[in-house]
Formats: sequence, structure tokens, C-alpha cells
Amino acid sequence: MRYGAFDDDRREYVIDRPDTPLPWINYLGSEDYFGIISNTAGGYSFFRDARLRRLTRYRYNNAPLDLGGRYLYLRDDETGDTWSPSWQPMRSELDAYECRHGLGYTTIASRHSGIRVETCSFVPLGETLEVWRVRATNERARPAPLSLFGTVEWCLWDAQDDATNFQRNYSIGEVVVEDGVIYHMTEYRERRDHFAFFACSAPIVGFDTARDAFLGPYRGWDRPLAVERGATSDSMAHGWQPIAAEQVKLELAPGETRQVAFVLGYAENPRDAKFHPAGSGRLDTRRVRPVIERHLEPAVIEAALETLHARWDELLGALQVATGNEHLDRMVNTWNAYQNMVTFNLSRSASLFESGIGRGMGFRDSNQDLLGFVHMVPERARQRILDLAATQLTSGGAYHQYQPLTKRGNDAVGSGFNDDPAWLVLAVAAYVRETGDLAILDEPVPYDGEPGTERPLDDHLRRAIDYTLERLGPHGLPLIGRADWNDCLNLNCFSDTPGESFQTTENRAGGVAESVFIAGLFVLAARELIGIEKARGNEAEARRLRAAADRMVAAVDDHGWDGAWFRRAYDFFGDPVGSAANDEGQIYVEPQGICVMAGIGLEDGRARQALDSVRERLATPHGIMLQQPAYGEYDLRLGEISSYPPGYKENGGIFCHTNPWLMIAEVLAGNPEGALDYYLRINPSAREAISDIHRCEPYVYAQMIAGRDAPTHGEAKNSWLTGTAAWNYVAATQWILGIRPELHGLRIDPRLPAGWGDVEVIRRFRGATYRISVRAAATDDAEGDGGPPHAARVTRLVVDGVPIEGSLAPLPPSPGAVILVEAVLERSVEIPA
Ligand code: GLC
Ligand code: GLC
Repeated sequence: MRYGAFDDDRREYVIDRPDTPLPWINYLGSEDYFGIISNTAGGYSFFRDARLRRLTRYRYNNAPLDLGGRYLYLRDDETGDTWSPSWQPMRSELDAYECRHGLGYTTIASRHSGIRVETCSFVPLGETLEVWRVRATNERARPAPLSLFGTVEWCLWDAQDDATNFQRNYSIGEVVVEDGVIYHMTEYRERRDHFAFFACSAPIVGFDTARDAFLGPYRGWDRPLAVERGATSDSMAHGWQPIAAEQVKLELAPGETRQVAFVLGYAENPRDAKFHPAGSGRLDTRRVRPVIERHLEPAVIEAALETLHARWDELLGALQVATGNEHLDRMVNTWNAYQNMVTFNLSRSASLFESGIGRGMGFRDSNQDLLGFVHMVPERARQRILDLAATQLTSGGAYHQYQPLTKRGNDAVGSGFNDDPAWLVLAVAAYVRETGDLAILDEPVPYDGEPGTERPLDDHLRRAIDYTLERLGPHGLPLIGRADWNDCLNLNCFSDTPGESFQTTENRAGGVAESVFIAGLFVLAARELIGIEKARGNEAEARRLRAAADRMVAAVDDHGWDGAWFRRAYDFFGDPVGSAANDEGQIYVEPQGICVMAGIGLEDGRARQALDSVRERLATPHGIMLQQPAYGEYDLRLGEISSYPPGYKENGGIFCHTNPWLMIAEVLAGNPEGALDYYLRINPSAREAISDIHRCEPYVYAQMIAGRDAPTHGEAKNSWLTGTAAWNYVAATQWILGIRPELHGLRIDPRLPAGWGDVEVIRRFRGATYRISVRAAATDDAEGDGGPPHAARVTRLVVDGVPIEGSLAPLPPSPGAVILVEAVLERSVEIPA
């Protein structure tokens, strides 16, 4: 069953009832100021870092799940009737409800006893504030005297400390109210030079800043006393829980609509100009005041919204497709690209499943996320690469995570995830193929953020490669270290102490466990780098890389093949993991995907065999499981993977991130139908009809869907912040549709599944616009389905009227050019790998 519908023209998902299976969220902000917002106005906001600069409170793991938000309250001052126009937190009866999640904004509209309220929340570009544009309409036949309350609960900045350090925090909360604006000032008197504010466009009749005063004793946000009574009490918070609540009176004539705006934001003052008059201890509001006032004006709000829409049109305009498959089109054109930008901005920090106080920017995660947004914001991708490389260590290894506020590696987690460095190579390759900017390889970048250690980025990549080559195990395969892509396969850990981190514990010295996955990843990365080194004239380095890749392929041939699929690893004792010789965990998905993507086994039939094994043993209607059979008991030798109940997360869950690797592998092995089939099994839009089973948002990917062994098979978790987004985008656009940026041109190599008609693609590339039409050749259609024949490939490419050999459309003749490409597909007698 569904809880809403896609509005493709407006690029919105329209939720038509508030009680979705889980809160369905959206993101506000794309630069420095961010927020999450649920379909019932839950969520919170922060400046840059969801842990260290949290503006408002949110209660994770609450009942109901989603509590803390941008809550408005309405009161009918004639009858005393009160309600929440966003349903939560009062869960009021509403005569109509609709939430539209759009790109960077969310609009929640509802009707209750003849009063329609529509609230649009967004962050204007370039600002560190959010606007709530509230429009109230009186649909009654008589005048409506109303009170409107806008509220937030302040977080005392560090979200972790805020949720734990009560002995201090109950004494330090401070606010100031000046000209109707509530300023949150906690710790401003001492070391902070930032503060938050909450303001309203209409004259307020009262406010509250002490939570107890607003809610009343022993009451929650679902039943505030001030709302019930119709009057705030101008309370001032001294310690305890500071909030901002503002009350406005609206006297609406029949049919009248009134707009009221609230603005919530973050501001900083220069260190030496915090107070006015100097030395008075009073907040200097002179800089922020005009910013607040401007954003309360209707014309400014409309213009900011327009600018936001235009920005998204521009970003998404980098790649638009029309394939006739609505699920692929809507994900690629809108939601998948949007999710890619969100993962770019937030990595794994803040969602309904990521508390904002845990992980910072993951090295592995951010490098992969980049694959999905590099074509939209190449300059920001460049900066991200340089930031990531600067957290690399001189060994070539990398800090596993870094903090976005400081850009320094995270000591608590450290290094030793032996796949990390290879992802940097893939990210740089993707960037260079997109932009042609080979000069980035000469960019000086420090190691471990230490000034004075700068070396060209190229040196970082060499060390990344050497890191693997210098850490080979007994079978000539890469040592796994703490873990590879699968954080939960901890083969050198041996933890029997509750609470110990599986990732940072090594209870036995001399870990020699090896990873076939890293071997495949290494070959993929090395082969990408060969092209770049050649283009830079570094023939010797290209030869070295080729030889290293060949040796690694040989090691996989000798020790990585199990007979019908690729093995996963060798454990601490040299025994195979992911082998028919095991009782459980016989086949893992990751090495099948990555080895075939690296080209291993494509020529001798092993790739096909491995993919057939996946189809037979791991594929379910809800996606491809990570491994089978799932582990039934905790196994000290395997680590966290066996700690999960069967069917969840890495223990046999459908870890969606890995599925696109299999889609790409299927395309490479000549089976585009198989690729599309897998694609549609986890495509959120294609799963919309089973929203009651899937439960997460139908417009974005989730990290995981419960596997066959789980009682809740098909249920998704951990939506939004996952590498699944970038990889599915790559699989759909670069492999199924076959539009791939390369150093010397745009590859146009669609492998369209049978039954597909003509396909149109608009792709911005190197400053030009390629308008690509893919057409099936008019041959006798043996299947008679009218579409292009099975496994058809490009046989003719006509670029601006000129026929071209091969499938590479040349680089644009000049920036700004519009290039017309016609690709004709024909059935090939033999399917080349
Ligand atoms: C999570 C992590 C990612 C890891 C994956 C598999 O998604 O963010 O880095 O590769 O789990 O364990
Ligand atoms: C847990 C998760 C895994 C994630 C890791 C990050 O182990 O199962 O998916 O990558 O945490 O620390």
C-alpha cells in the first residue's frame, strides 16, 4: 500500500496521510546550515556539524519515534479549540493533510475546522537560517480569531553533551529577547562567539523562553499549557531548558489568507566585537538584525524560494533522461541525484538513523559518495578530494573518518581499514574523467593535515597503491586489517568483551587475514589509474601499475576462486571465508561484484558463473542478500558480522550498497536484462506500492532491506545516508544507459534491455551539452516486441551529423556547445564482454 504519490512535474513526493510507517524525512540546506524535517515537522537544525553546532533539540529513540521539531500550534480563540497543523506533536484530527517534500524544501498543509494552514520550510541559498512561510486561510463563512504559536527547543550546542551533562547544563541556559526576537545565548558570555535566533514577521503578543512555563508542569509538547490557555507568559529561561515560543494573533475575515513567517537561524560575531556597548556583556545584534528582518519580508522569501528552485534545476540539468521506465527516470532525474547531494553534504552524520553525534565524514564513504555528485558540482568534488587526501597518512593508509568542522582525522577510530586508500584512487579517477582536470594530480596536499608535509596528489595515489602492495598476506592477497568495505567482517579482532568496538579492537597480534574484495578493488583502482598516468605521460608508472594489477589478478585466480564463485577472504588461520567449504557464509556478494567490475573472469566464463551463483543463492525479490547462509551464532573469528541476527545488516541482510555492483557486473557480462531486474528490485519508486512492507521513504534508497532470514524480510532501514545512492546512480546512468565520462570523450554505450524503445539523454560534460538519442536500428525484429533487440549495442554513432568509429563521442569543440549525438543500436551476433 501507498502513503502518497510522486508529483514528477514539481519534483515532489506528496504524502497524503501523516501516519506513515516511519517518519519520512527531507533535508533543508545545502551549504553551511542544515536541517532534517519529517512529514510531521519533526527534526532539527545545525550549523555545519550536527554534533558540535546543534541548534535545536531532537529526541532519538523516543515514543513516538519523531519528537522535537519546528512545531506550530493553532488556537481558535473563540472556542478554545487547539491543534497542530502538522499533526504532530498534538496528533490533532485534521480534515485534510498533505506533505510535499521537494528539493531543499518541505511544505505541510492541512485543514482543521475550516482553517487551512500551509507551511513551507527552506534554507535560502547563501544564508545560515531557515524560513518557515506560514499561510493561514479562513475557509469559514465567519471571521476567525486565532492564535498562532511558533516554537523550537534550543540545544545547548554540543548535542552529545546536551543529552548527557545535566549537572552543568541545567544551570547554563541563557536567552535574550530584544524587539520580539529570541536569541539563544548559552555560553556566549564565555568562549562562544555564535548564537541562534528565532523571529516572526508579525508583531508578537507574547513569548516564552522557559520550557516549563510554556508547556506547564508535567506536560509535553503535545499539550502545552500556554496554547491551551491562549497566552504565553513572557517567561525568561535561567538554566533548565531554554526554548523559543512566539505567539501571534490573527483575525481572519472569511476567505482571507494571511502570511506569517518565522525565521530560525545561526549567526557569529567577531571575537572582539561580541558585545554592544563594548564590555557591557550585552549581545551585539547590529549585524544580524538586518539579515533577520530581510528574511521576514514576503518578497525576499519568494525570491529566495525561486533561487532555490533554479539552483536545483541547474544541478539536475547536468543529466536528464527519458527512457520510458518511470522508476528509472524519476530516480535518475530527481531523487537519486538529490540523495547524492545529501550524502555529499552530510556523509553519514544526520538522519533518522544517524544521530548526528556519531561518525564524521567517512573516508571510504565520502570517496564513494563523490561518484554520484561529481558531474553536478565538480569544483566541490575537487575540494572534497583534497580534504580527504589531506587526512591520508604517510603510510598511504588513511584515517577512517574526519570531523567536518576541523577537517582533522578522527583519532578515536584511527586507521587500518585496508580498503580505504583504494577508494581515493577511484574518486580521483571519476573526477578526472568528468572534468579532464589532470592538474589536480599536481596539487600539493599534506599528510595527516600537517603543514610542511605537502606532496602532489599523485604522490598520495602512489602511496595508496603501495599501501596495498606492501601489505600482502600468505596467499599474495591484500591483508584485510581491521576490515575492508564490510566493516563487520573483523577477522583479526577476536572480541569476547561486551561493548568492545569490533572495528578498533585487535586482540591477537600479527593479523594475517586477507581480503579477496580488496584484491578486486585494487585491480579496479589500478586499471583506472593506468589511464590517468598514461595521459600524464608517466609510462613507467603505468607499466608498474599494469604489472601490479596482473599479479593481483593472478593471486585471485590462484586463491580467490572457489569453484563457482569468488571467495571472500582468508581468516586469521588461513582458512577460506565465503567458500563452499564453510557451513555458513558460503557465498558473499561483494567479491562477485567487485572482481567482475575489475574485469576478472570475464574472458574465461568465471564471471558468468559467479553471477549465476549470485542469482541462484543470494537474489530475493527484495534485492540481493549480502551472504548466505546467514550466521546463526556469534563467531569470535568473524567479528561483528556474526553479531547481527540472521537477515539483518551485514549478516545476510540486503545491503543495498552492494547491489549496483552486481548490476554493473551483469552489464559487463552481457546481461542488461539481469542488471535492470536487480535495479528495479531495490529502486525505491518501484517499491512504492509495498510501502507498508518497505516502510522507509519511497523516494530515497535505504542502506539495508531485511534479508530472507529475517522475520521482517523486505523491511528497509537506514534510509538516506548510504553509498547505495551514488552506486545505483552510477549503475543506472553509466552502465545500463552506458553514458560514461572518459578522459578523451563521452562514452555512449547503452546496453538497453529488451523491450525498450528510444531513449533520450541530456548530459552536461566539459562545459558542453550533449543531446543524445538512442534508437534501435530498423532490423527484422525476431522477438517481435518492437523494441531494440536483446543485448543490442551501439553500431553507429553520429555526432553533429558526422559518423564516428566506435562509441566515444569526442570532447566538445568549444565550451557552451550543444552537441547532437545519435546512437543506433543493433543486435550483435556475438555479445562481446
Ligand atoms: C556502512 C558504512 C560503510 C560500510 C558499510 C558496510 O554503510 O558506512 O562504510 O562499507 O556499512 O559495512
Ligand atoms: C556498524 C554497522 C556497519 C557500519 C559500522 C560503522 O558496524 O553494522 O554497517 O558500517 O557500524 O561504524
